[in-house]
Amino acid sequence: MLILAIDTSADDTSVAILRDRCVIASVTSSQITSHAGWGGIMPIVAKLAHEKKIDPVLKRALNLFQKARHPDLNRCYTQTDIDAIAVTQGPGLSIALEVGILKAKELAITMNKPLIAVNHMEGHLYSPFVQNSVGLPQRDIPSRFLSLLISGGHTQIIQVDGNGKYTILGETVDDAAGEALDKAARMLGFGYPGGAVIERLAHEVSNLDTFHFPRPMIGQQTLDMSFSGLKTHLMYFLKGEKGVVVDQVGQLREIASSFQEAVFDTVIRKLDKAVIQTGITTLAVGGGVIANKRLRYLTRKLMKKHHDIPLFPPLKYLCGDNAAMIGVAAWRQAERGEFVTDIQNLSREPRKSL
Ligand code: KG4
Ligand code: ZN
Repeated sequence: MLILAIDTSADDTSVAILRDRCVIASVTSSQITSHAGWGGIMPIVAKLAHEKKIDPVLKRALNLFQKARHPDLNRCYTQTDIDAIAVTQGPGLSIALEVGILKAKELAITMNKPLIAVNHMEGHLYSPFVQNSVGLPQRDIPSRFLSLLISGGHTQIIQVDGNGKYTILGETVDDAAGEALDKAARMLGFGYPGGAVIERLAHEVSNLDTFHFPRPMIGQQTLDMSFSGLKTHLMYFLKGEKGVVVDQVGQLREIASSFQEAVFDTVIRKLDKAVIQTGITTLAVGGGVIANKRLRYLTRKLMKKHHDIPLFPPLKYLCGDNAAMIGVAAWRQAERGEFVTDIQNLSREPRKSL
């Protein structure tokens, strides 16, 4: 099945065309530099940038697609080969989502194709299973697995049973892990996106956990997590109210690293509990934060203990937001027969959970 997918949920304008879960064309235009100075994504800036970029990104993706060889016919692909249009419906920034939804509706109607409305988090969930045009990496989608979704808006441990049955085993009760890293970076005087900045600062610190910040809810049996108290702790810490005066630039690195350790240690310990509680050792991880090499290392170490290896999305482009993962989630949805019945009236929906 050939699906053209669109994601405009946050600060990336992305269009991909896939054959089942193989990417034939993928184009993403990032707005990172437009938001960097604001310490977070500015919704109106994002909307205007999506409106400016959506047509050129779509055009480039279609050009790449039409240059690729059709595997069964002695010719290149054409636009009429596309079987369905898919779009992120939510969760995300509403005025940003609307740009993609409008374009997807327009395409579905003018091309007379079915429309698939995708939950952005289901996209991240399937991101470790996106393949390139020749079907690599060669990994099947397991019938049963655990998924860790760790992004700027979500931190969830999910049990997946077959196509479309998702049970949330645990999630953050307040800030998401990525959000906590973004806020910490801002407190340390750095811009958006904070997770990558914290990772760079933490790199080459000899003692990774100098300040050993609190790990909220860690002793509790629940798989839920909390990161907002940690953020408040950092705020008081930086004011010197925890008895430490931050007076050297070098200390910034140690603070960043200690904060990162507190966030990741919490997630890893909850994941460990999830594996033990369910007995499931197949783990797939998705979301922007898994771009972090320290988190990848800690996740690998945890799963080694459980005699398995975690499945990550390729570092290159599939950790952050992208339409390729939306295409795979859409393909799974199409297999379940879930298409939009009233295309004209499809609106952005706050699809918070899976
Ligand atoms: O999945 P994503 O691109 O967007 C959402 O759906 O939220 O995730 C964005 C989050 C941000 O919080 C960003 O700081 C974080 O992913 N992030 C990282 C890294 N790169 C991006 N966090 C830690 N280390 C990184 N290298
Ligand atoms: Zn995302």
